[in-house]
Amino acid sequence: MAGGVKLEVLEDADALARRAADLIGDAVRANPALSVLVATGHTPMATYAELARRGLDASGVTAVQLDEYLGVGEDDPRSLWGWMRRAFVEPLGVGKVVRLGGGIFDPDTACRRYGAEVSALGGIDLAVLGLGPNGHLGFNEPPCGRGAPTRVVTLTPESLASNAGYWEGRAVPRRALTAGMDVILSARQILLLVSGEHKRGVLARTLREPPTPGVPASWLQGTGATVLADRAAWPGTAPA
Ligand code: PGA
Repeated sequence: MAGGVKLEVLEDADALARRAADLIGDAVRANPALSVLVATGHTPMATYAELARRGLDASGVTAVQLDEYLGVGEDDPRSLWGWMRRAFVEPLGVGKVVRLGGGIFDPDTACRRYGAEVSALGGIDLAVLGLGPNGHLGFNEPPCGRGAPTRVVTLTPESLASNAGYWEGRAVPRRALTAGMDVILSARQILLLVSGEHKRGVLARTLREPPTPGVPASWLQGTGATVLADRAAWPGTAPA
């Protein structure tokens, strides 16, 4: 185990989704009023679909948005809120949401409102995260300290390139809002989902190198986070 991180290696992306759904389902059944930080991106989609297939009752859950592009309207297909709503909130019948941005024009006001709403929840019970090709969590782009707050960020060329694939040629907004590393790292349970050979290098750096601002996800070391990786992303067997 690297620095207190629990690594589980699953045979493939389907097995990873089933295992992630087991863990999220267990957490919701143990605490039906769970607050969950919800990643978008491709990796968690099979997990959310699996939870919906299992008929998980998430009516008491509060889903907390992880990140959002700046200057993108709610009806724009690039909106991460729209993606989260379609993939997680609606299929699972989630009762309550905390938005990041959400129609607030001024980004600083949006970040303050978000911080107040997360505090009112008593923090995050479960953070479900993906791993960016540049080591980001949410849009905490490198370099990023472990105490980085919720804020506006300028996306790195690597994130712009990787996100361009989601939107079929539409321009990717260059700036975004992200939940801070402080919010993510203080979650009581953290689940990082990593799938695919293209994540192999960044996952090795995340788990094996000393924590560094150059790989924001490396701050997960020492948090007791659970990392679920498929064999394509982690060809060896655990531990890291
Ligand atoms: P992905 O995105 O799940 O689509 O690979 C992860 C991320 O960029 O955070």
